[in-house]
Amino acid sequence: MQESIVRDPALAPDGHRKIDWAAEHSPVLNTIRDKYLKDGTFEGVGVGVALPIEAKTAYLTVVLAEAGADVAVASPGPFFVQDDVAAALAERGVTVYASSENDPEDADRELERVLDRSAGDREAVLIDDRAGLVRLAHTTRRNLLERIRGASEETTSGVAKFRAMEREGVLEFPVVAANDARCKYLFDNRYGTGQSTLTAIMQSTNLMVGGKRVVVLGYGWCGKGIARYASGLGARVSVCEVDPVRGLEAYADGFDVLPAVDAAEIGEIFITATGSTGVLTAAHFERMRDGAILANAGGVDVEIDVDGLTDVATGAREVRRNVEEFTTADGRRLHLVGRGMVVNLTASDGHPIEIMDLTFAIQALCANHLANEHASMENRVHLLPKEIDDEVATTKLDAVGMGVDALTPEQEGFLAGWRE
Ligand SMILES: NC(=O)c1ccc[n+]([C@@H]2O[C@H](COP(=O)([O-])OP(=O)(O)OC[C@H]3O[C@@H](n4cnc5c(N)ncnc54)[C@H](O)[C@@H]3O)[C@@H](O)[C@H]2O)c1
Repeated sequence: MQESIVRDPALAPDGHRKIDWAAEHSPVLNTIRDKYLKDGTFEGVGVGVALPIEAKTAYLTVVLAEAGADVAVASPGPFFVQDDVAAALAERGVTVYASSENDPEDADRELERVLDRSAGDREAVLIDDRAGLVRLAHTTRRNLLERIRGASEETTSGVAKFRAMEREGVLEFPVVAANDARCKYLFDNRYGTGQSTLTAIMQSTNLMVGGKRVVVLGYGWCGKGIARYASGLGARVSVCEVDPVRGLEAYADGFDVLPAVDAAEIGEIFITATGSTGVLTAAHFERMRDGAILANAGGVDVEIDVDGLTDVATGAREVRRNVEEFTTADGRRLHLVGRGMVVNLTASDGHPIEIMDLTFAIQALCANHLANEHASMENRVHLLPKEIDDEVATTKLDAVGMGVDALTPEQEGFLAGWRE
């Protein structure tokens, strides 16, 4: 069986420090670990993980490995790999196939290694990102299907793909939409993406956000968070949407709402967060002002048409780490941050630890749920049971010294009945 492949094992000490810091700030995952993950459920079970390799994801895999699982992890691509963390993980008993120097074209090969390692000779549960592992399990690794108990999915985009597979009747094992847990999308997509996207743009450019016209494309959970943080920093925020209700929501939240081609002319910073393709294209680039900054926070890397940007440009150069400047024929300079990929991961450390503490508590419980309940679950997309979501929220409130009330029996009866 293939052992870990990382860029440089000597980088491990820095990685250990990062993982320890994440562990110290993850009270929810630590409580869930102590309460639920020590009952032997994971003994001898393979857990295949596709997630960016950084300290918080690393800590999730460490927790699962300590619970007895044989954990193998790879990143959805080399731009999401911190080599020191990968090296440290390999020392902590997790099998890692990840190097920032890998060719992006080889990402599937690393994910296939994860599948081979985790489900090659034992039953396995998958923790997936944008459906990478599950897609391969249903195509190039169909021989492993019978040993996969199920998968949980981290992202909005991945869940959309699983729903498509369910509609076509091709899903061969149950999937839990971890993304759709309230303790995930209400915090991770909204506050996590909001804070870390702005952090990534500010760190990469070292420019001010306050006073600038920020255009947010997509007003879903991520877009709402981005607009809120940009506004909090003093930006003047405009929103572009295709859903009129979401557009109206943005208006009611105090933002201008306008078509993207019009926003192209006024924006100084553009941030896509739709999960869709071709959101900013040549039609927009040709109207943008000199100096415009472009970044993508959506889960797919086709929101900004980077090939189209390259085509309209007469030249391109890296002006700062993670910032590429494209010059147009009429002399305007457009600045792309983080290559048009998920900017808070390519150009920053990702979400704050406290946010991922909630998300990964959910992921650990999804994996636990699948490992225990898979036999009674249909091959479709499942929501996490409400009690699990409630428990994660209660644990977090407890960790910050807060709490909520419980309904009295009278109140429960009143709310459930219709006679009064
Ligand atoms: N950067 C991160 O760390 C991070 C975190 C969570 C989710 N995501 C990803 O961000 C994307 C959005 O996630 P979400 O939870 O906000 O999804 P969502 O479904 O709640 O919102 C997406 C919004 O985009 C709108 N939209 C679609 N096409 C559009 C277009 N062409 N122009 C303008 N608006 C358009 C939709 O109407 C919808 O309101 C997904 O790809 C998700 O996987 C990224």
